[in-house]
Amino acid sequence: MPTDQPNGRTRFAIVGTGARAEMFARAIATEHAATAELVALADVNQIRMDTHNRHLVALGAPAVATYPAEEFRAMLARERVDVVLVTSVDRTHDEYIVAALEAGRDVITEKPMTVDLPRCKRILETAARTGRHVTVAFNYRYNPVHEKVRELLAAGTIGEVGSVHFEWLLDVRHGADYFRRWHREKANSGGLLVHKSTHHFDLVNWWLGARPETVYAQGRLFLYGAEAGARHGYARDYDRAYASPAADDDPFAIHLATSPSLRELYLEAESLDGYHRDRNVFAPGVTIEDDLAVLVRYDTGATMSYHLTAYAPWEGYRVMFNGSAGRLELEVVESDHVSLASPAGEHGYQNLLVRPYWRPPYEVDISGHAREGHGGADARLTTVLFGRDRHAVDPLGRAATERDGAASLLTGLAANLSLESGLPVHAADLLDLS
Ligand SMILES: NC(=O)c1ccc[n+]([C@@H]2O[C@H](COP(=O)([O-])OP(=O)(O)OC[C@H]3O[C@@H](n4cnc5c(N)ncnc54)[C@H](O)[C@@H]3O)[C@@H](O)[C@H]2O)c1
Repeated sequence: MPTDQPNGRTRFAIVGTGARAEMFARAIATEHAATAELVALADVNQIRMDTHNRHLVALGAPAVATYPAEEFRAMLARERVDVVLVTSVDRTHDEYIVAALEAGRDVITEKPMTVDLPRCKRILETAARTGRHVTVAFNYRYNPVHEKVRELLAAGTIGEVGSVHFEWLLDVRHGADYFRRWHREKANSGGLLVHKSTHHFDLVNWWLGARPETVYAQGRLFLYGAEAGARHGYARDYDRAYASPAADDDPFAIHLATSPSLRELYLEAESLDGYHRDRNVFAPGVTIEDDLAVLVRYDTGATMSYHLTAYAPWEGYRVMFNGSAGRLELEVVESDHVSLASPAGEHGYQNLLVRPYWRPPYEVDISGHAREGHGGADARLTTVLFGRDRHAVDPLGRAATERDGAASLLTGLAANLSLESGLPVHAADLLDLS
């Protein structure tokens, strides 16, 4: 991301100033203040932008200019923005990516790059035409454990990969969160196969150096939502938790008033836009699935069986690679249960095991890797995006372009089409990434 600013610092603006934006704003204002500068914020909610500015000042950084979302283009010119960071609601990403590219700016966007095929095609076409760059902030690639998997596979440790078996579990705290707010509507998030699995499908594309060819999916809303909630006996009669006595003892509820950060970012901001961050996960209106099975065939010939569960008792994942010289198995337990009393009682661990043919299995040493900030990935990602390392050689090819963003979406978007038709979808026909 080159800059011609006289002070040598790249000028960033953030659009969409919710929880995720805080991580980027803090990284720019603190560790990377020598090379990066946050100059403006844009959002539909002025109160949330003001909260970010208070946090910046508390970090010792200056408050920055704030703009209503509809003045995004004017902001780019007036604030001489070099690079736009897109951390808004998924459905709106394309609008800001395309506007920034058209204005000659580079973009870093949160995942998913967008939520449907027409929007995805528009981003690809605009990037190709303008010659500007889109980086998709796939932080999971920067998790040292995931880097290790990539290294081992690229080194041929288990030979050629024939197939992948991948299971991802979101627990009844984190998984439930997608059913409390805007993600619960497919039009906003693309559903979990897009919003969440874009990370996982990107990892597999990157690990295997492959693109999805054929995708088949089955899924449903099994635990959350009005009908399932009543069927399983979990449903309570309220719309949002705040000021609802029925939510007081609901283990699926989130209580905004008890958390200072949730209170100021959401509860105290909702008078402006009616954004309720604490909807009842069993209230009507959920249009996404919580249990998803996907079968993929890649252009390398490898296949993947994948399962996403958003109502698990523990959080983490298992991914197994079957190769022509053995098998690689990664197990990550982020937390072994959800404690309603104290998250401090929850435990996690991770194992990476190589099982060669005709030899005993051996563990790959991944001890000492952080579990916070998405396994230490957020800090490593922001160092590359904002720090002096940003022009360094990236031998693992972790930086993700708009084409990688599109390739990761392709599996989820094809899977969504398969859910609708009940038939396998030839993903390669949906989007030309050749
Ligand atoms: N990579 C990761 O690990 C990770 C983690 C969390 C979130 N995310 C991504 O970050 C993004 C934001 O997620 P979040 O959890 O911060 O959500 P959030 O709900 O906390 O914030 C979303 C923000 O977008 C704003 N917004 C809504 N409509 C807008 C519009 N039309 N124009 C501009 N702004 C608008 C909202 O006012 C809000 O401030 C999502 O795309 C999500 O997928 C990524």
